[in-house]
Amino acid sequence: MTDPSARLRNITGRRLLAAFGAVLLLFAAALAVELFTLQRIAAAEAEVARLDHAKHAGHMAAAQVREQYIHQAHTLIEFGEGHLGHYAKAVETAHQTIAHLESVAEAPTEKALARQIAELAEQNDRDFRDRVVPVIRAGDRSHIAELGDQLESVVDHVVELNGRLNDELERRSSAARTRAEELRGQARLATIACFALAILLAAGLGLWLTRTIVRRVESLRQGARRIGSGDLGARIELAGSDEFAELAASFNHMAASLAREQAALVRSQKLASIGQVAAGIAHELNNPLSVILGYAKLLRAVPGPHADDVAIIESEARQCQRIVSELLDLARPHRLDVQPVDLATLAREAVDRLDDAGALHGRKVEVIANAPVVVPADAGRIRQVIANVVVNAAQATAPNGKITIDARSEPDAAILTIADDGPGIPADVLAQVFDPFVTTKAHGTGLGLAIAHAIVDAHGGRIWIASSAETGTRVSLQLPASPPAEVSPS
Ligand SMILES: Nc1ncnc2c1ncn2[C@@H]1O[C@H](COP(=O)(O)OP(=O)(O)OP(=O)(O)O)[C@@H](O)[C@H]1O
Ligand SMILES: [Mg+2]
Repeated sequence: MTDPSARLRNITGRRLLAAFGAVLLLFAAALAVELFTLQRIAAAEAEVARLDHAKHAGHMAAAQVREQYIHQAHTLIEFGEGHLGHYAKAVETAHQTIAHLESVAEAPTEKALARQIAELAEQNDRDFRDRVVPVIRAGDRSHIAELGDQLESVVDHVVELNGRLNDELERRSSAARTRAEELRGQARLATIACFALAILLAAGLGLWLTRTIVRRVESLRQGARRIGSGDLGARIELAGSDEFAELAASFNHMAASLAREQAALVRSQKLASIGQVAAGIAHELNNPLSVILGYAKLLRAVPGPHADDVAIIESEARQCQRIVSELLDLARPHRLDVQPVDLATLAREAVDRLDDAGALHGRKVEVIANAPVVVPADAGRIRQVIANVVVNAAQATAPNGKITIDARSEPDAAILTIADDGPGIPADVLAQVFDPFVTTKAHGTGLGLAIAHAIVDAHGGRIWIASSAETGTRVSLQLPASPPAEVSPS
């Protein structure tokens, strides 16, 4: 199944699509404008052709009417009916030519002029047949000249009308030619403008690609190279919310977790080496320490002037024993006796025991938990973690200082937070506070937090500290709700 948010996040893809789409749209618009203008040019040219054809039809009609008159004149000169057969053919042809002219005339003025030519031709034919032919048959020559003039004047009128029709057609034809020429000019301009725009857009797109993609890829490449060469503190800074920013965030996340893993590895190697040394020293020191303590006990039973010195020897030997046993705690793999335990109860028990032993130096510790916070854990070990942290808090706070322990459940884990309003941990100490032997105390061993870390680790949990001079120190430990993966019975 595809992740819908991945589809939504495909910002670069969508941007590229939009940019190339815009260029394509521009080209499509240029093509559409070009096609539309070509269509209009073709229409204007077709109009010119039609008008030329109409002009030709007008000339043909005028010529045929003249031809009709020539046959009439011929008949008048011969003063007989011998030529009437030819005349009839001429009338027929003139009729057809004028009918063609009427069919090609489109505009109202053209149609009106063509109609007038047709009517004059018919009038001329009627005059000839009704007035001239009867006079010839009667052999009356008295009005011949006058009738001939009348017939010719009709033909002259037709020629004049054709001249007007021709002028009208010519005017419209030249207007159509000018329009076609203008359209060609417009088409040229539109094409140049569209292509110039498309080129500008393509150049802008290239620039944008360089800025948003190439540069970002370059930043990623350099960052990945630095991280790959071992600089796990390097971070790739890419603003935005596109895939590159997301990739940069993933790289940064990867570098951070690699750094964490590396620190954990270094830490476990350190602990392993300390463990080897500690095991050897503990073995060698335990026997002489037991002997020293045994003699100190015997000497204490004998009253004398050195009783105080003997007590000091005994106390320091016990301190040595404690260090040795803590070192062994830190070094040997933790064997956990995991049972469901309530962290709030454990915290109260730890605080009570510390109070009884005087380790809190009178500090009050408040345990806040509204309900039991139960997780699978080794009660003794977690109590030890709580004790180590609470002792630190008690040592850091003023006599009337505030120490609180808060336990709460989360869906997959339980969180225990121990907070104090002491002076906080200096940044340089905080950076290595979980390392063994890091201490700022005259009589501290610097093992308390290292041991706490090792125990929480063995539970598959996490421990972290937030500390500042203003807010004091907050130590949080998170224990998983499911039992640790590898648990050895104690
Ligand atoms: N709550 C706290 N407030 C201020 N500083 C603290 C606090 N907790 C720890 N630290 C600092 O962290 C150092 C390391 O603490 P850690 O418990 O590991 O060792 P320690 O307390 O010095 O010795 P140990 O616990 O072995 O007796 C302390 O020496 C102290 O400087
Ligand atoms: Mg401590």
